[in-house]
Amino acid sequence: MLNQNKPAAEASPKGGGLEGAVSVLSPATVANVVCGFDILGFALNNPNDELTIQLSDEPGVHIINQDGFDLPTIAEKNVSGAALLAMLDETPDVKGFTLYSKKHIMPGSGIGSSAASAAGSVVAANYLLGNRFSKEDLVRFAMFGEKVASGVKHADNIAPCIYGGVTLIRSIHPLDIVSIDAPPLHVTVVHPQIEVRTSDARQILKQQVLLKDAIKQWGNIAGLVTGLLKGDYDLIGRSLEDVIIEPVRSILIPGFDEVKRNCKEAGALGGGISGSGPSIFMLSKDANTANAVEAVMKEVYERIGIDYHTHVTTINMEGVKRTTINTILED
Ligand code: HSE
Repeated sequence: MLNQNKPAAEASPKGGGLEGAVSVLSPATVANVVCGFDILGFALNNPNDELTIQLSDEPGVHIINQDGFDLPTIAEKNVSGAALLAMLDETPDVKGFTLYSKKHIMPGSGIGSSAASAAGSVVAANYLLGNRFSKEDLVRFAMFGEKVASGVKHADNIAPCIYGGVTLIRSIHPLDIVSIDAPPLHVTVVHPQIEVRTSDARQILKQQVLLKDAIKQWGNIAGLVTGLLKGDYDLIGRSLEDVIIEPVRSILIPGFDEVKRNCKEAGALGGGISGSGPSIFMLSKDANTANAVEAVMKEVYERIGIDYHTHVTTINMEGVKRTTINTILED
């Protein structure tokens, strides 16, 4: 669907222009990648949020939402606001920002909606400031947004959103982010229209893990990373197994087992819960299989009677991307 987005200036309370403004497209992301809870993620080419930012003479962060999601506009309670406030703490020469946010990634969908807001905002602000901060600094700021969204700082959506491609968060304290090469992969995502809050999906997790499960998980993470680096699709497929998080969280997602089983039968390499859900993602070697997988996902949710959205896309190698203020997005 082609979507002609309105210029951000239309929503400006002062009706003013957007001189000196910077706009970005900030991509959806898939965190965890099945076996890598909190440590693996990749960016998607579609959907993207649109963010436009300007310097302001008023202190703090002024947020103008241009979508129907009714997200908080108080900076401390808004993921973009919290990330930008963290940046302002380290920019004494800057008074404030005005942010125009037009989200296409539905909050609570499991494809990194909060990360797209937080990461996109700080990347856009960094352009305004002459790129004075490193990507690692931007991840650090954006994690303040994730804390607002889920109660915990995690970077497995933020890092791929900013770096593009597939990323490994080897450590958060101190930050150690590693980009991982991957062969061409097609991604199919289904978002059943139920909301799973990341904070809830984290609270239900067990705090202890059996050694035998940990051993399986380590094997799968190592196998997945090796499969990506070697371009070994069979190894990628075999390693897309999660014996720790998925058994607990999948009960929150109607149709999960059926979608997974049927998609694999349709040729998907494998997949699982995207982030904390409820979206489910599948990886395929080629576009035809990714489309067949989408048909399978649709069939399951049509039959169960739950509304859904799907995305068939590929891995975004660039991350947050600077754009012109008027953009045409393919949804
Ligand atoms: N790693 C996080 C979680 C991602 O699974 O809770 C949330 O999108």
